[in-house]
Amino acid sequence: MKLSREEQRVLDGLLREWRRHPKVQEMKQYIQHGSISTYDHVERVTQMCFALNRRWKMGADEGTLVRGAFLHDFYLYDWHENDKSHRLHGYHHPDKSCANAEKYFHIGARERSMILTHMWPLTITRLPRTREAWILCLVDKYVSTAETVAMRKREKRYVD
Ligand SMILES: [Fe+2]
Ligand SMILES: [Fe+2]
Repeated sequence: MKLSREEQRVLDGLLREWRRHPKVQEMKQYIQHGSISTYDHVERVTQMCFALNRRWKMGADEGTLVRGAFLHDFYLYDWHENDKSHRLHGYHHPDKSCANAEKYFHIGARERSMILTHMWPLTITRLPRTREAWILCLVDKYVSTAETVAMRKREKRYVD
C-alpha cells in the first residue's frame, strides 16, 4: 500500500528512533515468508495499519497502532531453523515478541495487548480487545497471506 508523501513523513517521524535500534535491525537477518525478512514484514504490516486507519477513519490511536504493529513479530530468531525452542512458533512468538518489546522499548498496556493477541484465532483465548489490536490482527493475516502466495508463485515458476 503506497503512502502519500505526507503519510510517509508522519510514519517516519513515529518510527525514526526505533528503526535505528540494533535489535530492530537484527530482524533483517530473519526470514518471515519466502525471501521476505521479518523486518520487511513488520514494515509492511505497520504501513498498512497506518494507512487503513487514516483512509477508512477507523479511529485507532495512531501512535499506539504504529508501535504495536512495528514490534508485533519482534521475537528475534529464524523460526524455520530446526531448534527445539522454535516449536509451536505460531503459539509462542507473541509472548517472545512482547518480552523483547518490553526489554528494549517502553511500551504501554495497549501495545502489549496488540502484540499478545495478534495471532488470534490460533491463540484462541487471546481475543483482540482494542481497535488497534483488531486492525493489527486482520492486517497481519492479509499481509502474511499475500507474502505466502507470492512465495508459492515464485516456487512454482522455479519448478516449471
Ligand atoms: Fe506474528
Ligand atoms: Fe506478522
